[in-house]
Amino acid sequence: MARRKLVYEGKAKILYEGTEPGTLVQYFKDDATAFNAQKKGIIDGKGVLNNRLSEFFMLGLARIGVPTHFIRRLNMREQLIRQVEIIPLEVIVRNFAAGTMAKRLGMEEGTPLPRPIVEFSYKDDALGDPLVPEEYIIAFGWASQQDLDDIIALALRVNDFMAGVMHGVGIKLIDFKIEVGRVWDNDFMRLIVADEISPDSCRLWDIESGRKLDKDVFRQDLGDLADAYTEVAKRLGVLPSNATHMPKPTLIN
Ligand SMILES: Nc1ncnc2c1ncn2[C@@H]1O[C@H](COP(=O)(O)OP(=O)(O)O)[C@@H](O)[C@H]1O
Ligand SMILES: [Mg+2]
Repeated sequence: MARRKLVYEGKAKILYEGTEPGTLVQYFKDDATAFNAQKKGIIDGKGVLNNRLSEFFMLGLARIGVPTHFIRRLNMREQLIRQVEIIPLEVIVRNFAAGTMAKRLGMEEGTPLPRPIVEFSYKDDALGDPLVPEEYIIAFGWASQQDLDDIIALALRVNDFMAGVMHGVGIKLIDFKIEVGRVWDNDFMRLIVADEISPDSCRLWDIESGRKLDKDVFRQDLGDLADAYTEVAKRLGVLPSNATHMPKPTLIN
């Protein structure tokens, strides 16, 4: 059997050539990395959970008219996506201070922000994904002013959707990161949500207990990461509510 062609292997996912032109297969690995890959681990079942959760969020976004790269899930670890030209930015939306913002400004984690704040990091592992002002983005040609306005509007729509969905299941959306890509429909360029939306790319706190249900569990050694992600999936109805821990998944290919 012919092996399909590997396009890119990253820290958390692998991209293969898709079944039709303009598509890719996105495979979710169990690898977890933090602090720019200085801390690494394998979390059994994480890839399965993130594949399902990213599907859930992307489908929900599509339903409210936010365009995403998601086409369909193929199996436990893989989904078919539309190939995009990735804008080399991490688009971060913050509702409460946490992580690098809390550190940079000496704020207590969890401090509410006066309004959602959108910020950009330049996607470059070797440089540690540095925070960049809009001026850099435009000057270096990573995106135009019009693109940036569209990206900010897109990110804020994702924020409203994610914050609402999470609030509905007793979870506070502290912040999250998305990636955005360009697609071309003939001569017409559009910006769509790409990559993944999962507890790897969000900060999620249980509203009642303050328990962290995201990748900070791994970053800060707060317990079992797959348990935390399973809790998020159960609350959203993505896994049956009687599910305990994902068994070690059976690889389909
Ligand atoms: N729809 C898409 N088309 C093309 N590239 C994508 C798409 N969605 C995500 N990507 C890219 O695929 C890679 C996903 O793998 P990941 O493990 O997250 O990589 P990284 O270690 O670079 O973050 C990322 O580099 C991301 O920018
Ligand atoms: Mg990534």
